[in-house]
Amino acid sequence: MCGIFGVVTNHDQPLGSILVEAGRRLAYRGYDSIGCATISGNGQIDLRKDAGKIDEVNERWQLGEMRGRRGIVQLRWATFGAPSQANAQPHLDSDGDLVGAHNGNIVNHVSLREAFVEQGMTVRSTNDGESCVHAVERYVNTGLDLVDSIRRAYDDLQGDYAFVIGHQSSPTLHAIKKGSGLVVGIADKMTCVSSDLPSILPLTNQILRVCDGEIATLWSDRVELRRVSDGALIEREPETFTQGMEAAVKSGYAHFMLKEIHEQPQVAAELIHWLAASPHVEPFLEAMTSARRLYLVGCGTSYHACLVGAAYLNRLAKLAAVPVLAPQFRETLAHTLTPEDTVVFVSQSGETKDVLNALNATRPSGARILGVLNVLGSTLMQASQHYLPLACGYEISVPATKTYLNQVVLFLYLADRLSGRRIDWQAVPQLIQQTVDQTDSQARQVALLLNSFREFYFLGYGETLGVAMEGALKLKEITYLHCEGMLSAEFKHGPLSAVFDGYPVLFVNAPQDAAMMVNHVNEVTCRGGRAIAVAVEDELLRKNVNDYLLLPTTSPELTALLAVLPLQLISYYMSVARGIDPDFPRNLSKTLTVD
Ligand code: M6R
Repeated sequence: MCGIFGVVTNHDQPLGSILVEAGRRLAYRGYDSIGCATISGNGQIDLRKDAGKIDEVNERWQLGEMRGRRGIVQLRWATFGAPSQANAQPHLDSDGDLVGAHNGNIVNHVSLREAFVEQGMTVRSTNDGESCVHAVERYVNTGLDLVDSIRRAYDDLQGDYAFVIGHQSSPTLHAIKKGSGLVVGIADKMTCVSSDLPSILPLTNQILRVCDGEIATLWSDRVELRRVSDGALIEREPETFTQGMEAAVKSGYAHFMLKEIHEQPQVAAELIHWLAASPHVEPFLEAMTSARRLYLVGCGTSYHACLVGAAYLNRLAKLAAVPVLAPQFRETLAHTLTPEDTVVFVSQSGETKDVLNALNATRPSGARILGVLNVLGSTLMQASQHYLPLACGYEISVPATKTYLNQVVLFLYLADRLSGRRIDWQAVPQLIQQTVDQTDSQARQVALLLNSFREFYFLGYGETLGVAMEGALKLKEITYLHCEGMLSAEFKHGPLSAVFDGYPVLFVNAPQDAAMMVNHVNEVTCRGGRAIAVAVEDELLRKNVNDYLLLPTTSPELTALLAVLPLQLISYYMSVARGIDPDFPRNLSKTLTVD
């Protein structure tokens, strides 16, 4: 995700404290590296950056003491290039005249970097943000002015991003937006630009929104907006932001969980772009397909993604992958491993002790270790021969939402690629958005219904088993009620006895399983139970259930991916109705580093 902030004033002054404070307020967007650059009135650039959290890097490099007339700070959440001093942002161009930083992903940065090197430019990192600076540099070198150079660079840089850049000999900063957040603040003799409002509000509440395809040029006393396509000036008045800081930090959402649920179309888009362009996917797939035995290992939500992933690999790619809970893996399988086996460890944090225990039990066998993780630089990343990132940015809320979705996106992407590519990936982020929009009010109604009971079952089959289990875990985690997620076919083997008149049972159905699922539904309804379907339109299913939470009709593989969205919303609305803070449920912590 990452965060950028830039400030422009009219004379040299201490800027370090402004930059560090802005960085602290953006730390929720990234915290594995931080860097500051200041440009003084005589054009001197002071650049200090390193891997680590903001207070660590501040102490190491005295960021707070930096002076200048203009300044940039960047908080990094690594996706391209490991967290390191070289990969930390901002970056300089070849001669050190330009300095800039970005937020988002430049998916064609590998080919761009090759081109920059061929053209004789000095590339110092493997981070995609550096491409933004060189992409501008090569047009500046042809004699174009800075605004036109940025406009040309915009066409060369593929992906979703925003970046801020300044030249040593001009009094301005320039920022551009293409798919990532960007807002401008206008204060007295000072302007600023940032990925998000919390870093701007301590300085001003006069806010100018920047849209995709626009360049903002900031002087200390004014801001100019232009269209990238033709360079035309845009007239837009600043607005006065009247809400408080807390509303700004949560982007207006009541809780981080809801904010993160709504971020899912964006993070999925970023991951899909990343996967399509990444050279890391092929070796990862090779290690999976060449394995004698293939295991997918995780805990909690990450394990549920393994369940869905294994079903996708089985049905779409005809690849046998065994999903296993990490502690079970250590106790029942680790001693049978050989160097011909591959174990994919799946973990948002990359630090879960149960996962690391299983990993340590795997090492002596020589089996290949792969990682799927959100936190780059984590122990899991370092131990993995190949890893793929989830590219979700910082997930603050204890209940995992966006990282689960991207775990499933990733597995579906791998299965689809192995099967010869059938899914229209460009359409997926929009389908996620449509599902959130379309199911929100239905989810509120189901939440109201379920909230009058104290226990429930969520049932799934095949690809939707992991989804039902994930929905049940979310509900347990943030409502403190009991909900069991299980295989619909297993329900008759015992739990069916719990059903009484009106007892709610939720069925998550993928289109290919409807005929089978109708049997499982009827086993419940004929005993007076109330069946709630989460499914795309299916005439037979609709006739057999009491309530129908309708998902958008799309290719069948996508149903299991989309079905989790209303389940997240149901548990969120139930939690809030019970007066619980879903972001910080009792007894739980985001990363479990204990046995
Ligand atoms: O960081 P990890 O993905 O390894 O965490 C595993 C579980 O602790 C985690 O998924 C937990 O179940 C979530 N809080 C559920 O929302």
